[in-house]
Amino acid sequence: MGIVGAGALGTRIALRLRERGINVLASVRTEESRSRLESLGLRAYTDNSPVVEGSDVIILTVRPGDVKQVDFCVNKPLVSFVAGVPLDSLRRLSSRPYRAMTNIGLTLVAVSGEYDETVNSVLSAIAPTVWVDERLVDPLTVLLGSGPAIVAELAAALVRAGVNAGIPWDLAKRAVLSLMESLPALDKEFSMERLQQLVATPGGVTIKALVEMAPAVAHISRAVEAALGRLSDIAKQHSEGLSRRVC
Ligand SMILES: NC(=O)c1ccc[n+]([C@@H]2O[C@H](COP(=O)([O-])OP(=O)(O)OC[C@H]3O[C@@H](n4cnc5c(N)ncnc54)[C@H](OP(=O)(O)O)[C@@H]3O)[C@@H](O)[C@H]2O)c1
Repeated sequence: MGIVGAGALGTRIALRLRERGINVLASVRTEESRSRLESLGLRAYTDNSPVVEGSDVIILTVRPGDVKQVDFCVNKPLVSFVAGVPLDSLRRLSSRPYRAMTNIGLTLVAVSGEYDETVNSVLSAIAPTVWVDERLVDPLTVLLGSGPAIVAELAAALVRAGVNAGIPWDLAKRAVLSLMESLPALDKEFSMERLQQLVATPGGVTIKALVEMAPAVAHISRAVEAALGRLSDIAKQHSEGLSRRVC
């Protein structure tokens, strides 16, 4: 397995794959980053060739603005986690391109491209994997890729609200984190929508809070839309001058 651009995200993917017993080669641009990877026990290079040549599947995790400088042409699967770079542009690097998204917590992988068993098993070693239409990758870049920061902001807002209501910081934070942790199990048991009906008794305390939250809910939707707009600007900016070569 090869990781081209093993920075913040690529390193986490490399370590997860290694944990699952998969041999990983990684490349970066600078000697400083190469030594950092070596100190984590990863085989790392400042040249992409040994990684590309020595791997059955290549994972691309450079920043969008650095894709132009990546130059190889292979007939093996290339899975790109680069925000905003479409499958068509990846054909310059590989005849078997895949476009994927995840986040720094590696909670889920969403991938688009022609289904392939080997790609599916590699991605499933990183996190539970879903295959999606390419048009969903941009919105998932915001929801899933930016998700940890967005969810942390929502949690912090709730902590601050608790503190404002008189609860000590540590206790408010512990309560909020315990709630977030419980959500998957509660969703499985009741579904999130039914859960709200169960907790919010008519004329009670919870429904009062939910009704007051309506403007915040609309704001969150607009925030996701605005981030999507920014992603589209960045994608346009970096696609200018990108070679139309097909590998
Ligand atoms: N971070 C996230 O939470 C997250 C989540 C979802 C998706 N993504 C996507 O993942 C990509 C990487 O994000 P990141 O936060 O991991 O960025 P990052 O920390 O800056 O990592 C990028 C890495 O790419 C290396 N690099 C740059 N040009 C290269 C080249 N030509 N050949 C080989 N390596 C090269 C850099 O090496 P040097 O260190 O030597 O400069 C750096 O280590 C982005 O496209 C982003 O959209 C990130």
